[in-house]
Amino acid sequence: MNAAGRRTRSIRVEQESRKKDVQAAVAGLRGAVSFNAPLGVYTSFKIGGPADAVVEPADVEDVRLLVRQARDRKIPLFVVGGTNLLIRDGGIRGIVVSLSKLRAITPESDHVLYAEGGVGMPTLIGYAVRRSLRGLEWAAGIPGTVGGCLAMNAGTRLGEMKDAVKAVRLVKMNGQVDDLDASDIRFDYRRAHLPKGIVVGVWLQLREGVRAEIERMVKDYLHYRRNTQPLAMPSAGCVFKNPPKDSAGRLIEAAGLKGLRVGDAEVSPKHGNFIVNRGQARAADVIALIRKVRHAIQRQAGVRLDLELKIVGEA
Ligand code: EPU
Repeated sequence: MNAAGRRTRSIRVEQESRKKDVQAAVAGLRGAVSFNAPLGVYTSFKIGGPADAVVEPADVEDVRLLVRQARDRKIPLFVVGGTNLLIRDGGIRGIVVSLSKLRAITPESDHVLYAEGGVGMPTLIGYAVRRSLRGLEWAAGIPGTVGGCLAMNAGTRLGEMKDAVKAVRLVKMNGQVDDLDASDIRFDYRRAHLPKGIVVGVWLQLREGVRAEIERMVKDYLHYRRNTQPLAMPSAGCVFKNPPKDSAGRLIEAAGLKGLRVGDAEVSPKHGNFIVNRGQARAADVIALIRKVRHAIQRQAGVRLDLELKIVGEA
């Protein structure tokens, strides 16, 4: 066998062995498991190659079992839920975890809500409004899950996740459940520093308000965002962090980059800091477009734009 043949064979052996490890890591789970699953359906961008497996654990016990078995087999876990995410076209080697079955919201005393990690932000806001609880209006229009929003300290100009979080329930990599007080978590701009693990629930400290007023604030804010952002197109929210005292969207518009395209990826004509998928965009198109925008802004405005979008997976 020549060198190329030996390489192909060794890749095949490695793939077989990883397949066995992935199967062992998901053995005995009660939730849904799909192998070699395309990830586009799990992201708001509708882009992403396949994962070795996608798992939707049935409950927290299932998450604990998965975490322990994956650690024993050295299979990396990756949680999807945030929407500021671009998965490359080669997909993810390892197991992608979707918390779509962890969707309970439980009211507690003193205007606290406990939301499981997979609860969608819009669902949580609706629940809070119906109970006349305020403190989440700023998040109207954010499509991610509570766990995803927590992990990236999602925010808008009106507020951010850290303002509402009281405590976090995490399944650590050894399978233990740990409840962390918000005061023990460092929150930065679009980032929460958490121990390695999976966020399975968040306690939110809200305040009593007047339902009609909260409803109006949510409506007004949604209206503002629908008018200024391409919420009806597949995207991953804002691509860049805002530079100090400026807006990335404003800079991109001033540089004349709105409408710029690579393949089906386009700088949104509605908001410069969004890249939208016009249908069949690949991750490579989005990445090439990001590079063009960055270069142009550096050249024309002398400003370095940092990514807010998280890019993961293999090319
Ligand atoms: N602007 C332009 N052209 C554009 C976009 C904006 O001139 O294409 C101008 C606007 O006219 C306005 C200013 O820039 O004067 C700020 O715009 P906007 O209110 O849209 O806010 P932003 O700073 O661009 C931030 C967050 C958004 C969040 C909005 C609304 C970041 C990076 N961006 O955007 O968050 O939705 O405020 O509160 O923090 C996200 O995190 O994914 C995201 C989209």
